[in-house]
Amino acid sequence: MTLQLRVYVPPHPLIKHWLAVARDVSTPSVLFRTAMTELGRWLTYEAAREWLPTQDTTVQGPLDIAPATVVNPEVPMAVVPILRAGLGLLEGAQTLLPLASIYHLGLVRDEETLEPLCYLNKLPKTFDPQTRVLITDPMLATGGSIMATMVELTERGVDPSLIRVVCVVAAPPALQKLSNAFPGLIVYAATIDETVNEQGFIVPGLGDAGDRIFGT
Ligand code: PRP
Repeated sequence: MTLQLRVYVPPHPLIKHWLAVARDVSTPSVLFRTAMTELGRWLTYEAAREWLPTQDTTVQGPLDIAPATVVNPEVPMAVVPILRAGLGLLEGAQTLLPLASIYHLGLVRDEETLEPLCYLNKLPKTFDPQTRVLITDPMLATGGSIMATMVELTERGVDPSLIRVVCVVAAPPALQKLSNAFPGLIVYAATIDETVNEQGFIVPGLGDAGDRIFGT
């Protein structure tokens, strides 16, 4: 079987709505943050569908024993927000994955070269190979940041097929790099935009999501 990168753009009205709010240049920071939280929630909901580990059991109901399926608390779960902007999606993701450990990764692009520079790495030295990892970052532009994150995770033992990327806007250069290096990966995005300009911004995109989230 040939592995291929899969990019899901869920056709959900709430995802479309909050994307429109996030794209609007007149949206103030407080509402932009709400849009990021909601997009984090709904995209994580979609990503969890076939990724969250469950186990079958039975429960004693008021009238009889009933078959049941519960989230398996023994499989390690992790969320990796790429700072700063990935923090905007974290709150919504975390409400759906309350047992997940959160490992912060601070990356900022060099304004000249657009290469990501790491200023904070809270990843553990190794991961249990069963760990499910959700990466949050609103924008996959040139792909430097998501590629650096994928390398950090896989070098620490994470199976790429157990990783889900939750982003708001994905652009072709990033998807091409991921496809070449991690063909089994699955990405959830609110939209795929066409281009990345010379300054490394996705067009039409969201502008600088980190600045818009934190009002800087
Ligand atoms: C933005 C964004 C991504 C990255 C995407 O972060 O949040 O992490 O750029 O670009 P790439 O695909 O070309 O690497 P930025 O470096 O602006 O930092 P910030 O989140 O702190 O604003």
